[in-house]
Amino acid sequence: MKEKIKTLTSEIQSEKIENIADLEVFRIKYLGTKGAIKSLFSDLKNVANEEKKEIGQMMNELRLTAENTYNAFKNNLSEDKSAAEKIDFSRPGEDFTIGSHHPISLVRSEIIEIFNRIGFNVSEGPEIEDDWHNFSALNFPPEHPARDMQDTFFIEKGENEMALRTHTSSVQVRVMENDKPPIRTISPGRVYRNEAISARAHCFFHQVEGLYIDKNVSFADLKQTLLYFAQEMFGEKAQIRLRPSYFPFTEPSAEVDVSCSICNAKGCNVCKYTGWLEILGCGMVDPSVLDASGIDSKVYSGFAFGMGVERITQLKYKVNDLRMYSENDIRFLKQFTSVL
Ligand code: DAH
Repeated sequence: MKEKIKTLTSEIQSEKIENIADLEVFRIKYLGTKGAIKSLFSDLKNVANEEKKEIGQMMNELRLTAENTYNAFKNNLSEDKSAAEKIDFSRPGEDFTIGSHHPISLVRSEIIEIFNRIGFNVSEGPEIEDDWHNFSALNFPPEHPARDMQDTFFIEKGENEMALRTHTSSVQVRVMENDKPPIRTISPGRVYRNEAISARAHCFFHQVEGLYIDKNVSFADLKQTLLYFAQEMFGEKAQIRLRPSYFPFTEPSAEVDVSCSICNAKGCNVCKYTGWLEILGCGMVDPSVLDASGIDSKVYSGFAFGMGVERITQLKYKVNDLRMYSENDIRFLKQFTSVL
């Protein structure tokens, strides 16, 4: 009996407990109702009377050893020392990915900021537009061939004709209907055209429209405003040139080229060796457009312009395929890390 107690004691003292599962095995083995110590106690009745006291005492000590061992391990584990000791504070931190702004957002914000500095506010209009704001008020009569210039996504044909706007010029009309001159506003937004998707055309893209209406606004004001914009956007060496053009809502109208910032106007494949890149359309607001929107064309004059954000982005970041803007390829998007 004494031998049994001694071997059990040393067995308990040499037990290794490393986790909760080990601890439970230990408890069942020694302290459980069917454990080794319980069965030893039930053997006590077979011990000779004169030895009972001594052996009883030894067994109590054994039980105490088992309980203390159990509690000591339990405390250790619950403090989770073993886990805490495993943390290596000298390890370098783990990398985590931060999103970046979309290039179209970056350039759109930059355009807004440039015009904010010279007093233009921002206005917006709906992407689903009626015929009046997208066409009629802008001087496109019903059968005007200019309506064919823009392949339109119609939502409803007929009397309540609704379409996805084909340009942000529709916002000009809304602003003129609601505000009184002086008006100095830019209207960024998404526009839609029914085009086959390719590297050079997409069925949706982004424009920024500009409108300035006051007394005595002249073509010289328009030209100077656009030169200021080009130099802020592409650098102080940037030059612009205006080519006569036609839009139904401006008279006279022009298209504007900026000197190629990629080759410093020396000629490269982006500017097709001309040194110039087309960036926007513009003109003096046609008096009939002013009148249609409730502004007296005998008192006020104004200029307007419209530019494609994808186009400006292409020139700034040398993106040569329009489809990349909407494909959500992380390898493309994460190159544009500047902070707004
Ligand atoms: N709306 C024209 C387009 O989508 C761009 C444009 C040209 C806007 C001349 C204007 C402008 O405001 O004056 O191509």
